[in-house]
Amino acid sequence: MSRTPGRVPGNGRVVAIANQKGGVGKTTTAVSLATAFAAAGRKALLVDMDPQGNASTSLGVALGDRRPGVTELLEGRTPPAAAVRTTVVEGLDLVPATSALARIDEGRPQVDARHLGAAVAAFRTTYTDLFFDCPPSFGWLTLGALAVADGVIIPLQCEFLPMEGLAQVMETIEMTRAGPNRNLALDGVLLTMVDARTNLARDVERDVREHFRSKVFKTEIPRSVRVAEAPSAGEPVLLYDRHSPASQAYVALARELLTHEAYRMRS
Ligand SMILES: Nc1ncnc2c1ncn2[C@@H]1O[C@H](COP(=O)(O)OP(=O)(O)O)[C@@H](O)[C@H]1O
Ligand SMILES: [Mg+2]
Repeated sequence: MSRTPGRVPGNGRVVAIANQKGGVGKTTTAVSLATAFAAAGRKALLVDMDPQGNASTSLGVALGDRRPGVTELLEGRTPPAAAVRTTVVEGLDLVPATSALARIDEGRPQVDARHLGAAVAAFRTTYTDLFFDCPPSFGWLTLGALAVADGVIIPLQCEFLPMEGLAQVMETIEMTRAGPNRNLALDGVLLTMVDARTNLARDVERDVREHFRSKVFKTEIPRSVRVAEAPSAGEPVLLYDRHSPASQAYVALARELLTHEAYRMRS
C-alpha cells in the first residue's frame, strides 16, 4: 500500500468497530484494520473497550502489563499518555483492557464520559487513526465509543437472519446521532467469515447488499484458519501470515476505506 503523508495534528479520525453480537469479527477487524493502517505508514491507536481484552492479547500485550489502561482512563485516574502501550506492530499503539472494564459497562457512577472525550481529544493530536474495539453489547462502553467516534464499521457474519441484529445496530446509531453525536457516519457494513461456497452466505450477501447498497464494503473477509491461529501467537493475522486470504482482504479493506470522502478530506 502506498504511504499516506502525515496529517494535521488534532485531526486524527476515530472509528468504532461495533455490533452487539459476539463472534462476528469485531476484534479481528479492529486489530487487522489498525495493523493495515500502520503498515500504510499511518500512526494508529487501538482502544480495547472489551473487558475480555482479546484485542490486547492479539497485539501481544501481556496480562500483567494492562494497567493503567482503559479502565483507569475512563475513571480519570491516569493521564491519557500513560495508558498507551506499544505493540508488536510498528506504528500501532494500544490502550489495553482488563476485566475491571465490566463494571464500567454496567454504568457505574464514578465514570464520567468527559474523561473519554478528553482522552480522545488528546489522542487525535498524536495519532492519525483511532480504532475502538467494542464489546458485544450496547452498554456504556459501546455507547461511549459511538459518542466520540467519527465513523462506525459494523462487521456482519454471513449467517441466518443477520438483518434482525443489524436493525438494532442501526437504531443505536440513530439514537447516537439524535443525542450525543450527530456527526457519526456509518463507514460501512463489513461481511466477515465469508464462505463463498455456501448458498446461505450467497443469499445473506445478496440481501444485505440489496438493503444497504453502497453502505456495504466491496471488500469481504473470507473465512481463513490462519485468523483463528494468530491470537494464540500474540500477533495480528497480518504479521502471522500476511499471504493468507483474510490478511490480503484486510489490506484491501484499508485501501477501500482510505478512498472514502472522510479520509480524502483529511489526508
Ligand atoms: N475471517 C475469519 N476466518 C476464520 N475465523 C475468523 C475470521 N474472523 C474471525 N474469526 C474467528 O471467529 C471468532 C470471533 O471473532 P472475533 O473477531 O473475536 O469476533 P468478536 O470480536 O465480534 O467477538 C474468533 O475465534 C476469530 O478467530
Ligand atoms: Mg471481540
